[in-house]
Amino acid sequence: MAITHWATTRTEEQLVSDAKKLFTATYDEEPTGVWAAPGRVNLIGDHVDYAEGICLPFALEQLTAVAASGRNDNLVNIVTIMPGQEEPRTLSISLDEVGKGNPATWAGYIVGVIWALNSANALVCKTGLDLAVVSDVPVGSGLSSSAALECSTALAAVEVKGASFKKMAMYPVMVEATMRAENDVVGASTGGLDQRTSFYGKPNQALEIDFLYDEFSFVPCNFDDHGLALLIADTNAPHRLIDGQYGSRRGLIDEVTAVLRKEDSTFRDYKVDQILEKLAKTPECSDHDLYRRRVGHIINETRRTQQAVTLLREGDFTKFGKLMTESHVSLRDDYEVVTPELDGAVNAALSAGALGARMTGGGFGGSIIALVKKEDLESTAAAIAEAAETRGFAEPTFLHAKPSEGARRLV
Ligand code: GLA
Repeated sequence: MAITHWATTRTEEQLVSDAKKLFTATYDEEPTGVWAAPGRVNLIGDHVDYAEGICLPFALEQLTAVAASGRNDNLVNIVTIMPGQEEPRTLSISLDEVGKGNPATWAGYIVGVIWALNSANALVCKTGLDLAVVSDVPVGSGLSSSAALECSTALAAVEVKGASFKKMAMYPVMVEATMRAENDVVGASTGGLDQRTSFYGKPNQALEIDFLYDEFSFVPCNFDDHGLALLIADTNAPHRLIDGQYGSRRGLIDEVTAVLRKEDSTFRDYKVDQILEKLAKTPECSDHDLYRRRVGHIINETRRTQQAVTLLREGDFTKFGKLMTESHVSLRDDYEVVTPELDGAVNAALSAGALGARMTGGGFGGSIIALVKKEDLESTAAAIAEAAETRGFAEPTFLHAKPSEGARRLV
């Protein structure tokens, strides 16, 4: 059996202690508190959040923790140790410098949130923060390390700087601010699935998020209780052209959305052919086959996700698994976001007996998920690792994913 590598997951106590240690070593005082937010995995419903579709994610156990204290000037000081990073990385940015497109780096996920909260007049005190960040959410793995960073920062900022809105109103404001950090400051045109999951996740629950109505409900999800397990295999393959490729998929869908909006309708009102008929009258839609496949994915993936929600509620995991695999095929053939590494891992999991397997998240690298019998967790991981080795791909890293609590204060 091939050797398998499992991602590190610290306990909350260990994370708190590591975040505090990093904070005091850097700023020479104790932080006001430590806040955390998880990464996420999407069970089904990918590349539909920006098309008013339905997604079915859950929050992971793996957390990003932020120790924070307020400052009286406009500086945001950051020290981080992210997974795979050995030495702390430090950075100091004035909030006066933050805005659209700046900084368009990892730091934008942090300072962009504080900037967006200030722009929304959500904080009582608009000055800077000292922050120390430690994380177990793998970076560049399609598991939303960026949302974990944004959501933990948002909570820390709101509690340290004071919220100007009532508690109930704060979550939508924070969701909006974390998305602005990602869309406007960093410049990634993502759709909001990640931040909602990181804020709202609950143990043993998946979230059915409906982006047409911007509402969500919980769906009981405890695979372990049914003798099953959800395996994540991070292919560790470099993300290829993620921004340009993601942006181009989204750009096409935004064009179609604009055509539908003119008649006050949505993707859910039509079959693929009906939408293509409408598009035939627009100059943009010259490549009919391309539009058929892209729009086809949106319509079919949302329908599949609706069915998957019902099957999960009924506990029909065999059919649920089949839908996962169909979703993968659609993302591969129609939406074209699947790399050879992702496809190889899915095929290896299915050959090893998984009930279903698919890429998860944005694609172009990152992770796959496989629904397996609990006793097959190790052997499926080994089969995926072996398949990667045979094809000369990077060694994957594995996680046993369990639906967990969303963003919260740890101490
Ligand atoms: C990334 C984006 C999300 C979503 C997924 C694909 O994770 O951040 O908004 O579009 O890809 O489902």
